[in-house]
Amino acid sequence: MPANWSPGGWRALPARQMPVYNDLDALAAVETRLASYPPLVFAGEARRLRAQLAEVAQGRGFLLQGGDCAESFAEFHPDNIRDTLRVLLQMAVVLTFGAGLPVVKVGRMAGQFAKPRSGDTETIGERTLPSYRGDIINGFAFDDAAREPQPERQLQAYAQAAATLNLLRAFTEGGYASLTRVHEWTLGFVDRSSQGERYRDMADRISEALAFMAACGVSDLTTPDIARTTLYTSHEALLLGFDEAMTRIDSTSGIWYNTGAHMLWLGDRTRQLDGAHVEYLRGIANPLGVKAGPSLSPDDLLRLCDVLNPKNEPGRVTVISRMGHEQIEGALPPLIRAVEREGRVVVWACDPMHGNTVKSASGYKTRPFERILAEVRRFFAVHKAEGTHAGGIHIEMTGQPVTECTGGAQAIDDAALGSRYRTHCDPRLNAEQSLELAFLLAEGLKAERETLRAAS
Ligand code: PEP
Ligand code: CO
Repeated sequence: MPANWSPGGWRALPARQMPVYNDLDALAAVETRLASYPPLVFAGEARRLRAQLAEVAQGRGFLLQGGDCAESFAEFHPDNIRDTLRVLLQMAVVLTFGAGLPVVKVGRMAGQFAKPRSGDTETIGERTLPSYRGDIINGFAFDDAAREPQPERQLQAYAQAAATLNLLRAFTEGGYASLTRVHEWTLGFVDRSSQGERYRDMADRISEALAFMAACGVSDLTTPDIARTTLYTSHEALLLGFDEAMTRIDSTSGIWYNTGAHMLWLGDRTRQLDGAHVEYLRGIANPLGVKAGPSLSPDDLLRLCDVLNPKNEPGRVTVISRMGHEQIEGALPPLIRAVEREGRVVVWACDPMHGNTVKSASGYKTRPFERILAEVRRFFAVHKAEGTHAGGIHIEMTGQPVTECTGGAQAIDDAALGSRYRTHCDPRLNAEQSLELAFLLAEGLKAERETLRAAS
């Protein structure tokens, strides 16, 4: 446990991207209540994730992290949770089968509510109001009442996170995620698509292999791991009062954990070394993500590693690069070289979403799918050139048939964006685009493994 740290120590430091609450008594009352609520996750689970990420850091696994940009109160529905899970399960199976590597699954789910924004205010026509910062803080509607930050929203977010996690646990442990059901995860609209066909071919081969293994006496009855899986949860540690309230001492180890999610990440806009967010994160023992945009210097990345992971423990830090397809080849190698030179152990993950956001001619915030794929291809190429492991992917996606990112096999064009544009925040990959990406990732990983085999 780091010296001179307490869960509320961040309060003395400058904190960017935090809402301004008018009713501070109501805020304090909400935080006190939250601090008395049950943990959502256990420290032991966060430790297990950390151990699995340590394997990934050493080239023996792959991290798949995905979900909504921002979960919302309006979209809270069991079907939405199930459908996002289905796509994550499909992606994981494509990766595991294609690359022959264990896949560590982490949802941007069950607590991913708070959002950093580029401006504190938003202007439409003559009116200027506080920016929408996620449902845990204020409302999306463009009116005074909705945009006022309301502390009680944190209680609703907690309740939604708890119910979401409960359903995810039931799905992943109760048989739904069994490999014997690999065909059943495909969503109806994906089944009829080219990616659906590709997936079906692979699922047929998995079913054949399972039938063969069952005939040899190895089945979901003898090997329960065939019938269940683990999906860990994560969110950006942004609204620190909420995260502080979820921070508890683990009775078995005596150290502090954030019990609101297994993994927390530091946003690209809040990674100041002397800032509140870094201060908070250095003291909790959960595995951490660090978003790395083009403005992060190699020295600052090393300093972040020093502060967040002074003992250089594998699995503690995942660097999530989000450079954009044009900048990744210039900006990522210096970070990798600095980390390698200093002998730091990290998981290298790629967020191909946040550096590729553009405004469409029709005014929608979108991400061209080709640019997302281009950043992923270059991510693999850079790691190949540096001799490091392309360890993970971090994406914004949903199981719903949205039209938020242009391109993909359905060739969503600018004009089609409006037909099912549902996100409150950033544009997400739909199920079909997510699957297409998974096949590309599997090819990249397979090539990496072949290169390694040839070299050994
Ligand atoms: C996000 O992951 O939703 C996000 C805001 O990313 P970044 O901090 O990388 O911009
Ligand atoms: Co986002």
